Amino acid sequence: MSTSGIVYRPRRLRATPRVRRLVAEHRLHPADLVLPLFVKEGLDEPAPISSMPGQVQHTEATLRDAVAAAARAGLGGVMLFGIPAHRDATGSQAEAPDGILQRGIRAAREAVAAVEHATGRPGPVVMADICLDEFTDHGHCGVLADGPDGTPVVDNDATLERYAAMAVAQAKAGAEVVSPSGMMDGQVAVIRDALDEAGFEHVSILAYSAKYASPFYGPFREAVDSTLTGDRRTYQMDAANAREGLREADLDLAEGADMVMVKPAGSYLDVLRGVADRSDVPVAAYQVSGEYAMIEAAAANGWIDRRASVLESVLSIRRAGADVILTYWALEIAGWLTGGLEGRP
Ligand code: PBG
Repeated sequence: MSTSGIVYRPRRLRATPRVRRLVAEHRLHPADLVLPLFVKEGLDEPAPISSMPGQVQHTEATLRDAVAAAARAGLGGVMLFGIPAHRDATGSQAEAPDGILQRGIRAAREAVAAVEHATGRPGPVVMADICLDEFTDHGHCGVLADGPDGTPVVDNDATLERYAAMAVAQAKAGAEVVSPSGMMDGQVAVIRDALDEAGFEHVSILAYSAKYASPFYGPFREAVDSTLTGDRRTYQMDAANAREGLREADLDLAEGADMVMVKPAGSYLDVLRGVADRSDVPVAAYQVSGEYAMIEAAAANGWIDRRASVLESVLSIRRAGADVILTYWALEIAGWLTGGLEGRP
């Protein structure tokens, strides 16, 4: 025994970059990252999203380039969102065979195929969001009906029919994974049935299972030119509830979800850990627009170290149990990783 009497010295395993790398319990890999991308109908040039510095609304042509870059960087997936030129009460462009999201999916698949052909490596899985908020003129995630007191409410079951049609349209366009984000009850089962009936039993469902009503979606509203007034609290979850998030995940698993998601990520790491502990399918987490914007804004002011903060925020999501992480930094992180960083701050 040393004269100090200290037996345990955990600092030994922190003493050098070599040993820290060896004993790291978690690290990031490009193949676990999914890049969300926005494609807007009728754009001539990509349009910067001011609240998400570095992110843009893509034209179909620049979407192709972005997906090709994601493929070359070895990313695991891309998640596509479409912004139509015309909106209506039922969001009819959401399921139009030539609607912007379907066109984006086809362009993405072509870009992936081209890079796969050139490199011989698997490209990103092409995923698409199933939700009506980008397509309705009122900005809600479903169709509206008069509630008991005459005020409009989102009609759960009427919305499910629209999601089913959207899923089939996306699958026809080539989506490999469809991702219902509207928090309607029963959405996974209805989408699974519709896909199977249309011959798309091979298309997977990544369910936004525990999706909370969150101010951290604020910048996303700019990204999709959202028209929403009010909020989504009658369908998205209440921040006070963790147990309910686990129940939502259980229901989606029972309905046949191939993967389940928690969203936002950073403020819900407890829910993520809980879902990861009870799920025997892969678990995803979405680091949302506001999480991105906060770190970008603080870094732009010189208040925090940008790269270390980005890596710590994403690594924390991994540590809490996410197998798959959706993050707007996916491409940049992949660049750091292949540049020799280990995916740790
Ligand atoms: C719904 C959807 C939203 C996000 C992903 N899918 C917006 C919402 O539910 O209000 C938010 C993603 C983000 O903030 O980065 N189409």
